[in-house]
Amino acid sequence: MSAEDKTLTVLITGASGGIGGAIARLLAAQGHRLLLQGRNAERLQVLRASLPHSDSHLVLAADLLDAGLRRQLVERCAAIPGGVDVLINNAGVSTFALLADMSDAELARTLHTNLLVPMALTRDLLPLLQRSEHAAVINIGSAFGHIGHPGFAAYGASKSGLHGFTEALRRELSDSAVRVHYLAPRAVDTALNTAAVNDLNRTLGNKSDSPETVAQLCLQLLQGRASGRRFIGWPERLFIKVNALFPALVDSALAKKLPLIRQFAQQNIQASK
Ligand SMILES: NC(=O)c1ccc[n+]([C@@H]2O[C@H](COP(=O)([O-])OP(=O)(O)OC[C@H]3O[C@@H](n4cnc5c(N)ncnc54)[C@H](OP(=O)(O)O)[C@@H]3O)[C@@H](O)[C@H]2O)c1
Repeated sequence: MSAEDKTLTVLITGASGGIGGAIARLLAAQGHRLLLQGRNAERLQVLRASLPHSDSHLVLAADLLDAGLRRQLVERCAAIPGGVDVLINNAGVSTFALLADMSDAELARTLHTNLLVPMALTRDLLPLLQRSEHAAVINIGSAFGHIGHPGFAAYGASKSGLHGFTEALRRELSDSAVRVHYLAPRAVDTALNTAAVNDLNRTLGNKSDSPETVAQLCLQLLQGRASGRRFIGWPERLFIKVNALFPALVDSALAKKLPLIRQFAQQNIQASK
């Protein structure tokens, strides 16, 4: 039986957000059973009620930065009859700011949420996932994890780290049935991006995708037979290759945009005060 035919139990972190909600709607429409994770219990309940077969889905609200609550989440997953087949590490935060304007607390929150939490949660859920013949982990990264972008130093570092983690884990588990995927969107139309980020993207001509586009690729990875790595968007996929081979080209292209990026980053800081 392939993952396409089987009803999978899927834990989605950040299901109360834009991309997590779109993934939940698509997977629920495919008949999968969802464990909807996020901090905002009310939003998760509204999402659950809107999904097909709403009674089969569970809301597991918790702040994942709290190690105790994370442990309780793993225990609740372990108690689910039939276990958990898939973990989608999607919860994330982003701050658009120059490094000089980021406090220790903001740096820690970004790296903790986007990198340490997916690592710890994956480690703690692996024994459970390994009982499933359809086991998979999908880490939601970002194009900024492959193209260092001014104004996103901490965010980019967290997503580069998430990619490195995914690659190493994929190889570490290559003799097991667990598939380990990495999905890196470019800009997506969600509340993660502040008005200043949207203004920056518009001004620089950066395209953005709908959360549903990301969800479709997530489903494709889930249905694939091997671990996969996907980058969303053209020309971003080309820029990622150019950046890997000729980083000086990307350095000079971004240097020309730096005054504008600085201006929007400062606008962002002012708006958040
Ligand atoms: N939007 C983009 O442009 C874009 C581009 C590339 C990659 N991504 C990645 O896509 C993923 C989803 O982002 P999104 O655009 O859907 O953002 P979003 O709408 O802001 O949603 C973020 C989600 O993460 C959850 N979350 C944040 N901190 C958490 C914590 N400590 N514990 C538990 N949940 C937490 C939020 O929960 P609550 O709302 O309940 O607090 C929310 O459900 C992120 O990893 C992001 O980096 C986004």
